Amino acid sequence: MKLFWMLLVWMSLTIAVSAFAQTKAGDAANGRVLFVKNGCYQCHGYEGQGGTAGARLAQTKLPLVAFTAFVRNPPSGGMPPYRAKVMSDQELADVYAHIKTFPEPKAAKDIPLLNN
Ligand code: HEC
Repeated sequence: MKLFWMLLVWMSLTIAVSAFAQTKAGDAANGRVLFVKNGCYQCHGYEGQGGTAGARLAQTKLPLVAFTAFVRNPPSGGMPPYRAKVMSDQELADVYAHIKTFPEPKAAKDIPLLNN
């Protein structure tokens, strides 16, 4: 009987943990679609490389919470705010997961054109 209860507790914990993981972990493939659909690429570039219109996002140091807070309410006015009505927390977690896949920029010494 004791074993039954231990198993039951173990199973409900496993289910609870996996449900939590499902809502939290970002889906990078969906994030890729959202990054384009919501126009992030227009200022930040397809690889999050940044440019004249937006900051570099590749290799961001921001944790997900700070990232979400920033996108909801960018301080400078250079970027439009994306409220929860436009993009849910889950959608932002997906975009964040996609951003995390962006490659590190090459070092200047590894770019032939800069070393001629
Ligand atoms: C109209 C141009 C524009 C669009 C569209 C845009 N951004 Fe930005 N973003 C900026 C600018 C400019 C900055 C630099 C900070 C500022 O001016 O607020 C920035 C900064 C950021 C930063 C902070 C980078 C850092 O490390 O300091 C994040 C994160 C970010 N943007 C994410 C996004 C995401 C995600 C989207 C799409 C949902 C998006 N941005 C769409 C212009 C834009």
